[in-house]
Amino acid sequence: MKSINLLLFSFLCISAYLNGQENREVTILKDHWKFTKGTHNGAIQPDFNDSDWQSISLPHDWAISGPFIKGGDGPTGKLPWKDEGWYRNKIHVPQHYKGKQVYLLFDGIMAFPKVYFNGAFVGEWDYGYNSFYLDITDFIIPGSENTLTIQVDTRKHDSRWYPGAGIYRKISMIAVNPVHVDIWGTYVTTPIIKPSYADVRIMTQVRNASGAEEKIQIQQTIFNQEGKLVATKESTALVRASSAKEVEVTIPLTSPRKWDISDPHLYTLTTTIKKGKEILDVYNTTFGVRSIAFTADDGFHLNGRRVQLKGVNLHHDHGPLGAVFNKRAMERQLEIMKSMGVNAIRTSHNTPAPEVMELCDRMGILVFSEVFDKYDGKMDFDPEITNFDEFSQRNIKNYILRDRNHPSIFIWSVGNEIGDVSWNIDNGFHRLHTMLNYVNKYDPTRPTTLVCDSEASAALRHFDYYDVHNWNYGRRYTLARKLEPNKSVIISESSSTVSTRGYYDLNLPKTKTDFSKTTLQVSSYDLNAPAWAEMPDDDFMWQEEDSYVAGEFVWTGFDYLGEPTPYHNDWAKENGLTDAHASYSSYFGIVDLVGIPKDRYYLYKSYWNPDQTTVHILPHWNWEGKEGTSIPVFVYTNGDCVELFLNGKSLGKRCKNPTSTIATQRYRILWDSVEYAPGELKAVAYKEGSVIGEQVLKTAGEAYQLRLSPDRKVIKSDGEDLTYILIEAFDKNGNPQPLADHQVQFEIKGEAVIKGVGNGNPRSYEPFQASTVRLFYGKAMLILGSQYSEGKVTVKASSEGLKSATTIITIE
Ligand code: GAL
Repeated sequence: MKSINLLLFSFLCISAYLNGQENREVTILKDHWKFTKGTHNGAIQPDFNDSDWQSISLPHDWAISGPFIKGGDGPTGKLPWKDEGWYRNKIHVPQHYKGKQVYLLFDGIMAFPKVYFNGAFVGEWDYGYNSFYLDITDFIIPGSENTLTIQVDTRKHDSRWYPGAGIYRKISMIAVNPVHVDIWGTYVTTPIIKPSYADVRIMTQVRNASGAEEKIQIQQTIFNQEGKLVATKESTALVRASSAKEVEVTIPLTSPRKWDISDPHLYTLTTTIKKGKEILDVYNTTFGVRSIAFTADDGFHLNGRRVQLKGVNLHHDHGPLGAVFNKRAMERQLEIMKSMGVNAIRTSHNTPAPEVMELCDRMGILVFSEVFDKYDGKMDFDPEITNFDEFSQRNIKNYILRDRNHPSIFIWSVGNEIGDVSWNIDNGFHRLHTMLNYVNKYDPTRPTTLVCDSEASAALRHFDYYDVHNWNYGRRYTLARKLEPNKSVIISESSSTVSTRGYYDLNLPKTKTDFSKTTLQVSSYDLNAPAWAEMPDDDFMWQEEDSYVAGEFVWTGFDYLGEPTPYHNDWAKENGLTDAHASYSSYFGIVDLVGIPKDRYYLYKSYWNPDQTTVHILPHWNWEGKEGTSIPVFVYTNGDCVELFLNGKSLGKRCKNPTSTIATQRYRILWDSVEYAPGELKAVAYKEGSVIGEQVLKTAGEAYQLRLSPDRKVIKSDGEDLTYILIEAFDKNGNPQPLADHQVQFEIKGEAVIKGVGNGNPRSYEPFQASTVRLFYGKAMLILGSQYSEGKVTVKASSEGLKSATTIITIE
């Protein structure tokens, strides 16, 4: 077992994180940060004493550790995110940076960061979800310690969900020669794609920050995914002093392998800037060759064939990790969604971390990329005082330039449910046009859209400005489609069904808004939704009937922090309760806040993945005291019929009814009333007369033992990798105990840290950063993170009265 000295490794991370390319050094400013809240203007000065500030690593979200503000604002997560925060770091700038051009690239800071370097103000940003960069060349002192100070202020930020607080995505320091490829400085498109060749058009923005004109050569080399050189071309350019020049070439690629959801093949373009024999810069761009098209009547086409979009909306937070971006946490989200049949995500309603697109490119997931949410006082933009043109140009420019080479992105959305824009209030169409113009200016190769919610606004024909109809809920696309049948339709938000994992109210709701007033949990029979929304089954049915619909994006894939509809603060007041009764996280997710599937996961899986066997019974079968009373039983399956058995006795065979006008009867198999008796409930599923699979639920005895199931038993010692360890309670015979609510303690032996715990209960006020968690309906999650050491880590979970459980994680 090898163990690396922790200090040495942190140093490596800060000062020598090279991306392996000559003449371009990228340092991730991850460790050795100091942080505090409050007003500390003196902290701008390099000699300020920050020794009593908290030592932290980035990315960081100061609010996620809580404590929860019980009577606080439910819609934004009841966490202390509204404040001022200060970050400081002493950075060693190497001597050889003298004469270099140095930038700081910020992936996202919530919100309104002001950046100071060695005591001088360098620049600022507003929109907390966007990436931006600053040129610090004139501020650095090479060969010595430099001070970076960042002030963050979320007090001016407003939100409809939990935004997070602080430097929640990474910061990179980039050092290059005066002649270099600009940040986000390449643009690769494939205007011609034929089976035997594709034209790859490459635009490179070369910057010359020196005082003299430079004549340079630009070598463009394309490698396939196996690393084989497949095409190369060299051109020359004269770049004037202190300016930038766009250099364009077209390179034919023979027999291109397409990027597709089933085979996401990626090419790498290496751009080398040379002056004679001297290499000035090497810059890599990943791209794919693929065609996208929306048709009037046949939905969306990828590489010439129809692909129905099976999408989910995802918010930016990662549950117990808060807004902190972690690549593995994101990869896991996407893996869970993909396992259900998802082939697309919508980044609702803001620019995500850049790694999200890298992952989607690699995993073959299409991306509906969105830049803004409705800005009625909820965004970092005040229509009264901000110059809209300037704000949108700057923000759309960074949004598009950063991401336009990703093959996974198939549409750009300028915003979600922007009221004044859809209703043309106060010259709203002018603003819509402004945003779309900027998108088209920076990338004319993808369709554009606006996401709408008010059906009647279609009469004003805002869709004349953009390419694809996008409507949220309730078949509201109907009028727009009637008025403009030449445009395809996406259901940009579907369903919005709400439920709590593991919780069932045996009296089925009479209406979709019939929510429990006592438990403040939503029954998991998947029949509840807010007034504006619907069941998953409705959207399935509408898409089958309206074959022009290109697909749907379910609200939402994962539960997220904030927006706890229906149990928000207003609901509490209307029902004679106080804010303290409101919940703090959403009930919309197909999986809960920690990624544990709710029943709905299996409904989507059964429909979206018809070739995989799904047989899923709900509810659980532990109803002590309900013997002889009637219990509704639903089965989600990709089969067409199910025979149900209770304690060996058949309760008959029932089938889906594909022609029913009641959507739930088409996609679920229902028994409204099964007389409860403890024991064994078994569903045997059939497809076209043959058995395809079965599921058995057994009434569990008392909880007896814990079990730990890590999603990965081996993780990397990079200080970032994670394993998600599921904790479950079982009875003596190994049956899952669906009602267990024991408090579980963790003991970690070895070099790993608890990054978070949670149980998916939208009303739990237990901290997310703790070494204990309460089981919620039999389950909870521990998120364990590696440090910079290799070795074995033993995780022990114990709870009074239960047999403890242990698992070993290898860190290498
Ligand atoms: C939509 C909105 C989403 C979310 C959702 C909840 O109208 O675009 O952000 O609030 O409602 O159903």
